[in-house]
Amino acid sequence: MTRNLADQVSEQLPSQHLRVLRTSGQMAAKRGHGIYLVGGVVRDLLLARPSLDIDLVVETDAREFASVLANGLGGSVLRHDRFLTSKFCLDDLDIDIVTARREIYPHPGALPIVEPNTIQEDLRRRDFTINALAIDLRPQTFGLLVDPFNGEEDLMRGLIRILHDESFIDDATRILRAIRYEQRFDFRLETETERLLLQHVPGLRTVGADRLRHELDLILKENEPEKAIVRLGSVNALQAIHPSLVGDGWVAERFREARRVTNTPSPALYYALLFYRLNQEEATHLASYLRLPRSLTRIIVDQARLRQAAPVLEEDLSNSAIYGLLKGCSPTAVLASIIVTESDQVRHKLQLYLSRLRYVKPLLDGNSLQELGVISGPQIGEMLNALLEARLDSRAHTREDEIALVHAWQATEKGVN
Ligand code: CTP
Repeated sequence: MTRNLADQVSEQLPSQHLRVLRTSGQMAAKRGHGIYLVGGVVRDLLLARPSLDIDLVVETDAREFASVLANGLGGSVLRHDRFLTSKFCLDDLDIDIVTARREIYPHPGALPIVEPNTIQEDLRRRDFTINALAIDLRPQTFGLLVDPFNGEEDLMRGLIRILHDESFIDDATRILRAIRYEQRFDFRLETETERLLLQHVPGLRTVGADRLRHELDLILKENEPEKAIVRLGSVNALQAIHPSLVGDGWVAERFREARRVTNTPSPALYYALLFYRLNQEEATHLASYLRLPRSLTRIIVDQARLRQAAPVLEEDLSNSAIYGLLKGCSPTAVLASIIVTESDQVRHKLQLYLSRLRYVKPLLDGNSLQELGVISGPQIGEMLNALLEARLDSRAHTREDEIALVHAWQATEKGVN
């Protein structure tokens, strides 16, 4: 039986999206090309879950079609020549348009070689039955579901199923994806899929750093990423990525705590917690293995510094001493330490630094110091530091207090000379 989802498309997608989809369908049909809504958005329509990421497949050159669309509707086009894809952008709407293709994997872990083909072939190259779904957008057949692998049935039964036995060999990132969807939707891996997934976990070692990181980023953007992290730990997939990565109850609890402390933790904060227990050597190795961006590497380095500072932070310290210990530390690394520390003393000082001390500045600046007669040179910097300390420790509150300190300092200098 052919299934028509025109009503779901019209009811669930925002009107601007719908207008662009209908126009795309008309333009493609006029030129004799097939055009389809594909992948996650179709899955989410069937599940009645919101989904704003629109992916289209056209049975022609997507780059040319995107330009036709932009000529008709306005908007702009970003071409990606190697993969025969384009991004069409109109106001706040971004649509990925892909040429229907067959993909051939030259060897495991490699990027596929891409050849234009039909929608049926295009769905065959995809990861799971629940993502190998398309909806026809041409006016005559608008809304017809293309479902060659019974994806709708798997969706209803709550199953993640690969399309063929080589799937995890072609692309081991699908191991991470399978578990991300399983945990997001509270589905199960179909029995044979689970067997092959467990068998091919070591294949994660063949995946390039950028693709691994991309999939980890996607996991850490989930609402409850600890579910997938713990499950990946239990099938040894995290250890396959890097032996020092652990997905256990400890990390799950820290992720939940992160959501109690900040409503929507950034992926960077989750990374910081995932990497928290690594020693210096493991952290350096992991940062280079995953080619972490500089901002994340800095968080890891700062976490090591914070761990060293922790015993000192237990002691009674002035605000300026706290500032001196934490100055320049990445706020995300400090936040991760707030979540992890078991000491009230340490937590209190980290919170004080994060919420107040790091923003403190003296009221006088270099120019005002010169006007007060401080000779330009290193003395200016030293004086500004002394003023900052005075403000941190509540020895100066107003501009007048700071001027008084400068005068007192000048008097002692004169006394010394
Ligand atoms: N895809 C795939 N294999 C991959 C990555 C992606 O087959 N390794 C296909 C899937 O059909 C997927 C589509 O490309 O539906 C788009 O990928 P992506 O945007 O990562 O996922 P979505 O399905 O949109 O899911 P999400 O809800 O996570 O955004």
